[in-house]
Amino acid sequence: MPKNFVLDQRIERASDAIETGAAAYRGRWAEACCPLIPGGVERFDHVHLDLGCGKGAYIAAMAQRHPDTLFIGMDSEPVCVVHAAQLVLDLSLKNVLVIPGDAANLAGIFAPGELSSISVNFPTPHPKRRHARLRVTTAEHLDGYRSLIAEGGMLMLRTDSLPLYEYSLPQFKAIGWEVVCATHDDRAAHPEQPITEYEQRLTEQGATVHAIYARPASKPATPEQIQFALDMPQSLIDYLPEDLFADDYIPYGMSYAVDNLRNRRQHLAARQNA
Ligand SMILES: C[S@@+](CC[C@H](N)C(=O)[O-])C[C@H]1O[C@@H](n2cnc3c(N)ncnc32)[C@H](O)[C@@H]1O
Repeated sequence: MPKNFVLDQRIERASDAIETGAAAYRGRWAEACCPLIPGGVERFDHVHLDLGCGKGAYIAAMAQRHPDTLFIGMDSEPVCVVHAAQLVLDLSLKNVLVIPGDAANLAGIFAPGELSSISVNFPTPHPKRRHARLRVTTAEHLDGYRSLIAEGGMLMLRTDSLPLYEYSLPQFKAIGWEVVCATHDDRAAHPEQPITEYEQRLTEQGATVHAIYARPASKPATPEQIQFALDMPQSLIDYLPEDLFADDYIPYGMSYAVDNLRNRRQHLAARQNA
């Protein structure tokens, strides 16, 4: 954060693009947030949620392309909320809002079927087993998003992390989601996707974008399906490639674990050769 960054002042300044009482709009986002243009549209055709929106580059770019859609960015970090809201104001966008909040509480903010789609761009990977339940792509979280997505709607996960992709794909499948696209090069598969701040930063370091596009299951997950998903390895270390990325890009948040494993292998090899 810059030295002269005073969070409260920045929240106040960007407040026109921040909604702190989001629960009050549950079930009526499309109407309530539509600008009152005489003779113009009275409700947005679609509502899109960008979960973990960071500084807002994705929603800002999408909002400019799709004026018929309300884009809602949600982030649990107030600093990100402020940055995203400031970007919305700087670009004078009328179809974007930013809300502070956590992925775990979406059902209190959106009514069943209210969201046309959800994007999850470069989510925090939480590599350790004891933090696994915080990943926004656990079967339990996905099951929570399921009813909020309208029929025919989609969730898009995009990440630099091969282990997070490998962990997440069976989580979707375990609870019956239809995987429409699973790719290790989303930039080639979906060149139209706006580049987020993290994509920019991480691809400059050598990352490629792994992505999963999936449609929700028609029924809630059963306790057995959730248990099946929970029984899968929960540490992202279990999803590392055998060569530990050799000379390739190491995903965000995994350098420490990869370095440790490489060192352990070197020690073992040295002992065996001694
Ligand atoms: C690695 S950043 C990616 C930001 C942005 N999507 C991008 O691609 O540049 C992950 C973001 O998700 C937010 N986040 C992490 N866990 C969250 C949760 N449970 N609910 C909402 N936001 C979350 C973090 O605060 C952070 O801004």
